[in-house]
Amino acid sequence: MTPEEINKGLSYITYGLYIVTTAYDGQKNGMIVNTVFQVTAQPARVAISVNKQCLTHELISKSGVFAAMPLDESATLPFIGTFGFRTGRTFDKFAKIPYEIGFLGCPIVKEHTLSYLEVEVQQTIDVGTHTLFIGEVKDVGVLNADAKAMTYDYYHHVIKGKTPARATHIS
Ligand SMILES: Cc1cc2nc3c(=O)[nH]c(=O)nc-3n(C[C@H](O)[C@H](O)[C@H](O)COP(=O)(O)O)c2cc1C
Repeated sequence: MTPEEINKGLSYITYGLYIVTTAYDGQKNGMIVNTVFQVTAQPARVAISVNKQCLTHELISKSGVFAAMPLDESATLPFIGTFGFRTGRTFDKFAKIPYEIGFLGCPIVKEHTLSYLEVEVQQTIDVGTHTLFIGEVKDVGVLNADAKAMTYDYYHHVIKGKTPARATHIS
């Protein structure tokens, strides 16, 4: 099979869309991922898959904590572009975004988000281009209970969004 055929087959996997944030030594940053999933219930643990070249990867590796927030359908392409197509190495992604600092010190984005989880990293697994960060959920909160979660499918077919090369799945 060609890589294109394999990628086409993989495009039918369903996901949500999330902002993942962290902060270390006064520097905060965040990125878009489609790869947040709960791996155990007791204790509640989640995993994320983050490209090694991302600033967020560097900061989570140092801080040992991250927050994950599901996006709702009101999230616009410019908003997703700020977190998902640009790196925080060259500008402050939070300059124009409402947020507050959570229990573990991560920025909690309060716009276009349904809820938040704050997670303490317990395990990292090197999967090549990306690292799986697996951790225990230490704090949760609901930000907008009435909004509808944005799915990866909605992002592609309604918002007509793309994913950049560093994502886990390329479209
Ligand atoms: C729809 C979408 C899904 C993405 N999913 C992932 C993902 O699961 N893992 C990942 O490492 N990057 C993913 N990305 C790419 C990062 O968000 C992007 O590389 C970001 O600019 C990294 O920012 P940073 O360098 O400031 O950390 C995704 C981007 C988009 C738009």
